[in-house]
Amino acid sequence: MGIRWHEKTAERTKSIHGSFNLPLDELFVHPDPIFFAGGTPSPEFLPIDHLREANYRAWDVTNETMYYGDTEGYAPLRERISERMKQRNVDVSADQILVTNGAQQGLDLLSRLLLDPGDTVLVEAPTYFGALQVFDMYQAQYQSIEMDLDGMIPESLETALKAAHRPKFIYSIPTNHNPTGVTIAPGRRQELLEIADRYNVPFVEDDPYGELWFGEHGSPPMRADSEDVIYLGTFSKTIVPAIRMGWMCAPEAILQRLIDAKEASDISSDRIVQRMVVEATSHGWLDGHLMKARADYAERMKLLNASLEQHMPEGTTWTSPGGGFFVWVTLPDGADSYKILFDIAKDGAIYLPGQIFYVDGRISPSFRLGFTTLPMHQYEEGIARLGAALKRIL
Ligand SMILES: Cc1ncc(COP(=O)(O)O)c(C=O)c1O
Repeated sequence: MGIRWHEKTAERTKSIHGSFNLPLDELFVHPDPIFFAGGTPSPEFLPIDHLREANYRAWDVTNETMYYGDTEGYAPLRERISERMKQRNVDVSADQILVTNGAQQGLDLLSRLLLDPGDTVLVEAPTYFGALQVFDMYQAQYQSIEMDLDGMIPESLETALKAAHRPKFIYSIPTNHNPTGVTIAPGRRQELLEIADRYNVPFVEDDPYGELWFGEHGSPPMRADSEDVIYLGTFSKTIVPAIRMGWMCAPEAILQRLIDAKEASDISSDRIVQRMVVEATSHGWLDGHLMKARADYAERMKLLNASLEQHMPEGTTWTSPGGGFFVWVTLPDGADSYKILFDIAKDGAIYLPGQIFYVDGRISPSFRLGFTTLPMHQYEEGIARLGAALKRIL
């Protein structure tokens, strides 16, 4: 008796999976493990009181707000986003912006609109696994584009485009990349856009870390260089992920279709939370908040780099990013960072191994360290444990 549910699920559900495939129960074996996974703002930069007050003001509404509406997003919020994009050299009006439930929903709406089963998405190697979770759901195939310390390599993009069966779009995190922390060099961006244009394949620019630069100023989005770039933004890393507020800026030719897809998906984003974000970001609050966060994260990155310098085995290299949340470490002599992690975890340090960030599941000597979510002394302790374990194992 009972429904045989496995006969009921759709064909495409075979490709639904969780965000990353790591047997955490086999890794959390130390009594006090230090997990370097986090890709979220530091506890000191969770503006809970500020958001509570903004939320109180956001409830100053008429009856109309209690109904359905504003699929494309609350107009003052789209205005606010447009102003912020203009500060970063992207000339978009409020009408060109669609509010989404985080960048993740932008990826989903875009995939709904663009991907047929078997279409190819070109992705950086390595890339953000949460995006693969979405593309997999739409039965995409992949081509990897190799990267170096200046980001995506133009020759590799061209090779991947030539090899791709029905290429639909190039998914990229050009600035303060997840997982490597690198940024596509200014001199490369135009060349990449020209190649993409020649093959009639657009760039999808996922930019959660673009506003979290460490130096004097950041890199403008690639969208500043071409109106054909589909841009995904979010408040998850600059405010908090819990509010699920992001946006998308798409070419006019597909914007209305995306708004229709959004309506079919959830009618609109939360109308109160959108007002809350407008209240919270008024009077330059976000710029002040980011100024402090950038300085703190830059300091964390420097301390993490110094710990690596002190503890890593000879021949190990790592990135020293110009912003964002991640450092990418590469071990010497073709080590398999996935395989050895199970042994390292016994000493109480856990990183995200490179392999889980590649669509071809290649063996990788690299791993990702996030440096924003734990107190700094724990990272220093974690790197010391990691270094000792690596020196023992390698
Ligand atoms: C590259 C990238 N894209 C998208 C997301 C998801 O962002 P959001 O919280 O805006 O959905 C993340 C979160 O870690 C990310 O690193």
